[in-house]
Amino acid sequence: MLNKKKHIFIIGMMGSGKTTLASILSKTLKIPYIDTDQDLSSILGLEITEIFNSLSEKKFRMLESVYFLEHIKNNQHIYATGGGTILEQNNRSAMKKEGKTILLQTSPQELFNRLINDKKNQRPYFEENKNEQYLSELWSNRKKYYIECADYIVETDKKEPFEIANEIIKNLK
Ligand code: S3P
Repeated sequence: MLNKKKHIFIIGMMGSGKTTLASILSKTLKIPYIDTDQDLSSILGLEITEIFNSLSEKKFRMLESVYFLEHIKNNQHIYATGGGTILEQNNRSAMKKEGKTILLQTSPQELFNRLINDKKNQRPYFEENKNEQYLSELWSNRKKYYIECADYIVETDKKEPFEIANEIIKNLK
């Protein structure tokens, strides 16, 4: 059973559907949700790609982490985290301590299909490496961190968002 003070962290690769799921879960569970990239971007008045390009990836990771660790001091939220939030040790420890973490596990092929069709959100890395192989390597490099954080793993290929949300809700109960 989910403690009322605990957050829900949705983690997974770029394009795994974290924001869509956070929004559905938020409506169903009546817990506010936040997309950390969108929020950070609007606070700074810069697109994520602009932060990467004008500052650096290292500075983006630092800002992302400071923002994340500060925001989770608030009341219970559902967090649609950035795909790389799990890279920082402090973020991983905070997830373990402050809530339940759900990993959306999506195949590189499915990620590729979604990202190539996502005209709205630009991802700095993917812009320069528009291929499945890149996503496959990124997943291999990061898998250990995603698994380390996850309290529950849900496979998302060939499932509708509502099915995935129901699976998560069952697990949280
Ligand atoms: C990143 C994923 C993006 C965003 C940034 C870096 C990554 O978030 O934080 O482009 O390193 O995987 P989404 O997973 O929401 O696309």
